[in-house]
Amino acid sequence: MLNKLMRKKQPALNNDLLRRKELAQIEQLPSHISIIMDGNGRWAKNRSLPRVAGHFEGMQTVRKITKFANEVGIKTLTLYAFSTENWKRPKIEVDYLMKLPEEFLGKYLPELIEQNVQVQMMGNHDLLPEHTKRAINKAVEQTSHNNGLILNFALNYGSRDEIVQSVKQIVNKVQHGSISSNEITEELISSHLMTKELSEPDLLIRTSGEIRLSNFMLWQLAYTEFWFTDTLWPDFDEACLMDAIENYQTRNRKYGGLK
Ligand code: FPP
Repeated sequence: MLNKLMRKKQPALNNDLLRRKELAQIEQLPSHISIIMDGNGRWAKNRSLPRVAGHFEGMQTVRKITKFANEVGIKTLTLYAFSTENWKRPKIEVDYLMKLPEEFLGKYLPELIEQNVQVQMMGNHDLLPEHTKRAINKAVEQTSHNNGLILNFALNYGSRDEIVQSVKQIVNKVQHGSISSNEITEELISSHLMTKELSEPDLLIRTSGEIRLSNFMLWQLAYTEFWFTDTLWPDFDEACLMDAIENYQTRNRKYGGLK
């Protein structure tokens, strides 16, 4: 029964949303959107359900938002699925979160392939369980030739950890003489981060009313536009994403200069 529910076709968009989607495409679209998907626990608590039920529902939102973002023409969607600090949660929750990529990709990989989505992952994957790594590697491999939306999951990702790893790589190169310290530039640092092949996010969304970055893409968000919403991640839908995009389109991005 649950499987049937999970696989069911996603409902069609209403006319208002279709119109908004078309209008948004005329304006400057954010190329890369990053999302801190927060509020799953509160969503479950509000319904007297276990926290993992909120994560399960959050997974349905990932499916919905991925499809819509791809249709709108967003090039990259980075989703913060598990941070280097999330290991501090109760084991039962961590185990569930580690099963979700497998669950998500097991159910939806065929539709992601159909939608021409390319799956990528960033984070320290050495510490992930084998079953999680297997599911991820399979999806990354099977979608590597797709050229639609890049769906980039941040899994066991921490921005400070990412920066530490990149500094170590650069120091190593200096010590071995393959680069000199004069060659250390912003571009060089960017090219040693886990996002080296991606553009920087144009728009960051955080759901659930929390207004902080929680160790997410600290370097890459230097000139990103932020959008905070009280909506809990499981309740976030296509109209919420349109709200964020439409607001982004009113912003005057100056990058420290004048416009
Ligand atoms: C934060 O909400 C959310 C997470 C730590 C996990 C995010 C995971 C998903 C949205 C599931 C989708 C994942 C995949 C791989 C498809 P919270 O638990 O901190 O919520 P709270 O602040 O209300 O307690």
